[in-house]
Amino acid sequence: MQWIPEYREDVPRVERFNSLARFTHWTHTVTFLLCLFTGLALFLDGVDWLAAIFGGYRGAGLVHRIAAVILTVSILTAMAVGFKGVIAWIKDLLRFGKNDIGFLMVFPLEFLGFKVKIPPQTRFNGGEKMNSVVTPTMVFLLMISGWIIWWPSIWWPGLVRFSYWVHDLAMIFGTLMVCMHGYLGSFHPGSGESFWGMWKGTVREDWAKHHHAIWYEETYGDKAKTEEE
Ligand code: HEM
Ligand code: HEM
Repeated sequence: MQWIPEYREDVPRVERFNSLARFTHWTHTVTFLLCLFTGLALFLDGVDWLAAIFGGYRGAGLVHRIAAVILTVSILTAMAVGFKGVIAWIKDLLRFGKNDIGFLMVFPLEFLGFKVKIPPQTRFNGGEKMNSVVTPTMVFLLMISGWIIWWPSIWWPGLVRFSYWVHDLAMIFGTLMVCMHGYLGSFHPGSGESFWGMWKGTVREDWAKHHHAIWYEETYGDKAKTEEE
């Protein structure tokens, strides 16, 4: 396993994510992880050491609620402020087609570190399109169920019990997705360059051409340049 690929300033780079997208992404990453570790302290038996990090079980409950509020507010604010970006994101997801299926077929080999020929991809590749549907769905389920179990007295008891199930299952699926996604977006030899897109805003131009050929052509290619003129 290698660490995150070196950030190369000496090669041409292209913009991938604006500052709002980056700020929102890292805010929800930190708050998701805080919710996860404090939630695990409440969920698992005999993890006093984990609860101790947050000042005990009461402290873990408090940090969980504070992180949950920031997570909810940051996502709702970003959806309102960056509405155009959200629509563009959804439009890209709706372009799921033959090339995305082709990507998903070679993905296991790419995941294992083999060099593979990737069919031309739009802004988000087939795997990212799936992540864009599954992970936000899990986060929304966590938010809705979480707000219900926060105030159990105002809801029907059956709904509160059901919400605990939803909260726990969404936590498990969401965490599995985030583990794979976090690895692919950082240490993975083929796709790790994407980390810089989310951290500094830009990726290497040659990497963009190879990994997101359709997006590159539409955004920075000859056709895009003539349309700009
Ligand atoms: C985003 C809004 C969220 C809200 C409003 C929320 C709210 C809550 C509340 C009120 C509890 C009960 C705490 C207690 O018993 O003291 C809880 C438990 C828990 N939360 Fe969340 N939460 C949210 C997000 C998350 C996230 C993102 C995760 C994990 C990725 C998570 C994982 C857990 C777990 C594992 C428990 C323990 C459940 C159990 O005991 O069965 N929560 N949450
Ligand atoms: C654990 C550390 C994490 C790392 C290193 C990471 C890294 C990245 C990177 C590099 C991208 C851009 C990929 C591209 O070029 O298209 C991205 C996108 C994204 N991230 Fe994360 N991320 C992390 C955690 C999270 C968490 C906790 C969530 C949600 C709960 C999340 C949700 C998303 C979504 C929905 C996208 C857009 C779809 C995609 O590209 O897969 N990420 N992330």
